[in-house]
Amino acid sequence: MTAQLIDGNALARTIRAEVAGRTQALTARGVQPHLSIILVGDDPASQVYTRHKVNDSTETGLSATLERYPADMSEADLLARIRTLNDDPKVHGILVQLPLPKHMDSQKVIETISPAKDVDGFHIASAGALMIGAKGFWPCTPYGCMKMLESIGYQLRGKHAVVIGRSNIVGKPMAMMLLAQSATVTICHSATADLGAITRQADVIVAAVGKRNVLTADMVKPGAVVIDVGMNRNDEGKLCGDVDFEGVRQVASWITPVPGGVGPMTRAMLLVNTIEAAERQSS
Ligand code: GUN
Repeated sequence: MTAQLIDGNALARTIRAEVAGRTQALTARGVQPHLSIILVGDDPASQVYTRHKVNDSTETGLSATLERYPADMSEADLLARIRTLNDDPKVHGILVQLPLPKHMDSQKVIETISPAKDVDGFHIASAGALMIGAKGFWPCTPYGCMKMLESIGYQLRGKHAVVIGRSNIVGKPMAMMLLAQSATVTICHSATADLGAITRQADVIVAAVGKRNVLTADMVKPGAVVIDVGMNRNDEGKLCGDVDFEGVRQVASWITPVPGGVGPMTRAMLLVNTIEAAERQSS
């Protein structure tokens, strides 16, 4: 079997078009959806990511501002700025780019964002809402993975999903989202003993460790669906995921490529959360 590709670029385009439509409807009512992005310091990757977030937003009709502050900004000043944005009715979404400089407590900074504007879905209130099935904001990467499964009409009910990776922003929320769809969920990590014995039972595998070749063909049940969240570089410096793509695609029924898989979906879901935030705040 050669797996079919789940095309993240194509799906993200469709989702952006939907967001553009919702944005037009809001602007027609006199509400301009706005995302405020804060970048502290000059981490080169963060500069690229935040530029993408601004461009993605403006191309979809959302307005976005990028506020840049020096790496020695005090935590108190950052918290004060976030509180001002919380109180600004023209700002619907607030995103503080991570990582923050070492002298700052990232969790404290995130908890200062109003849950109503937490479009990253990183606030403890957002995590709690996901846990109990209440309305909040879902973190963009696992949300995008769920949209990819939905796009192939995959029915999760009764299936076994294995998530490899237990981060607060991907692995754990991913597991909750799968569980909410009545899948049986196993969360593993890179130290799980005989990982292959577990992944071979899976109908769906989500690899989110951040290490190459975490998942190889011998670890995959024929016909399984494989979602690759990894973003790594191979020996030639080319972008690759956590999955041995060439091997696993011979066994799986569906697989997401890297690049062109989860990455563009993560970016698209930030726009979805932002328009959702604006709609909720203006209804
Ligand atoms: N740094 C890397 N990815 C992300 C993200 O999705 N959100 C934020 N705020 N920072 C990041």
